[in-house]
Amino acid sequence: MLIYAHRGNSSIYPENTMSAFRSAVDLGVHGIETDVHLTRDGILVLTHDEEISRVSNAKGMVKDLTYEELLQHDFGLWKGEAFKGEKIPTLSELLDLLEGTEIILNIEIKMGFLLYPGIEEKLLEVVTQRGLLPRILFSSFNHYSLAKLKELNPDAKVAPLYQSGLYKPYDYALTFGADYIHPYYMAMDRTIVEESHRKNVKVNLWTVNDPSQVPYYKDLGVDGLITDHPKELLSKLKEL
Ligand code: G3P
Ligand code: MG
Repeated sequence: MLIYAHRGNSSIYPENTMSAFRSAVDLGVHGIETDVHLTRDGILVLTHDEEISRVSNAKGMVKDLTYEELLQHDFGLWKGEAFKGEKIPTLSELLDLLEGTEIILNIEIKMGFLLYPGIEEKLLEVVTQRGLLPRILFSSFNHYSLAKLKELNPDAKVAPLYQSGLYKPYDYALTFGADYIHPYYMAMDRTIVEESHRKNVKVNLWTVNDPSQVPYYKDLGVDGLITDHPKELLSKLKEL
């Protein structure tokens, strides 16, 4: 079972910043999850919300700001003085960090109500140019986006995210060739894991923050846990 650091090591460091990603690498995680958006000038940047005020000292929609404008803002201070000066990272900066490692990168494409036309082509271009496609797992709540990725490149691994109540999610996932399902952890049970595996679909859960649940998920055969507390989950997993 693999441990993915959700937005980097986000319980300690400001989420989706290079310090959170570096810390996750240092902890020895198997994977990192991050959220991607497109700036006004078409740069792939990593942050969770469409609007930046929760995690920065400024306001505005990512889609309305250029990368240079975003760089003027602080993305660390909200988490504490110690993180002052953190900038919004680009996807390329994170790929630079991961290039010399074997860490899997789960790129969540943030397209809810707001769409970023052409984001799938851009993502594939950036990761294939570097030869990193085999180590990338694309996920999204926007399953049209995942289907498009698969159409553009059948080698891209994709995972539909969902919150609850999806009927036979493994069968649904296979309608567009998905390789994984990413249910909210409360939306998973033994049948879902067993049937998914029978159909060659893997199961990663989000967001699992209680280390005492690690033995249960390992026993069920869950493939991966996405967590804000990678240090604690990794150490629990090592005990098993
Ligand atoms: O990818 C798992 C999880 O990140 C999905 O929800 O809102 O934390 O991006 P969210
Ligand atoms: Mg996410």
